[in-house]
Amino acid sequence: MSLHTVKHDYKTTKSQRENQHGHKAFLIWFTGLSGSGKSTLANLVEIALHNEGLSTFILDGDNIRQGINKDLSFEPEDRTENIRRIAEISNLMLDAGIMTLAAFVSPYIKDREQVKQIVGSDNFIEIYVNTSLAECERRDVKGLYKKARSGEIKNMTGISAPYEAPISPSLEVVTDGQPIEVNVKTILKFINTKLKLSNT
Ligand code: ADX
Repeated sequence: MSLHTVKHDYKTTKSQRENQHGHKAFLIWFTGLSGSGKSTLANLVEIALHNEGLSTFILDGDNIRQGINKDLSFEPEDRTENIRRIAEISNLMLDAGIMTLAAFVSPYIKDREQVKQIVGSDNFIEIYVNTSLAECERRDVKGLYKKARSGEIKNMTGISAPYEAPISPSLEVVTDGQPIEVNVKTILKFINTKLKLSNT
């Protein structure tokens, strides 16, 4: 609980930091099944933005769960806490003026809604990486689906735990049978106008 704390107002503002970076800072949130291509897409989008000279950072489930969130399981309450912490971390990144890309399964609509609330709806872009379970299972890059089918892994999203697809995401990309570069272009085009500072 945050009893007896008083928020300190610092004099350098988010928009001053954005001006220094030369672009707006907002959160691009990739949601989808494990193996849907979220991290691959975030990585390619970040490379493109970085090459344009933007300040960027990626937060990714597999990495974050080995560090700050290594105490969390895949039970529903822990997934909620996972996403809440990521939202708060993202919020700090945005305050620092950094374009933030987050790739998390984030299977619950209410958790993604909370992210939007924490960072503010103007700073939140939800991208639904819509890859079918059949395709994710076919790829099975990490061998997790096989383990989930045999019962070795419990609570596997799509198999033994739910995935609540976004009802009206900011953008939906379908990766099945589509070259990944097409999706990257679609995303870059979508965010392009949002990046511009109002004074430029
Ligand atoms: S989330 O549901 O809490 O948002 P998060 O994105 O952090 O999940 O982590 C998902 C990654 O953890 C997957 O890409 C996968 O590699 C791994 N993983 C391990 N067990 C599970 C599971 N039971 N369900 C989903 N992903 C799992």
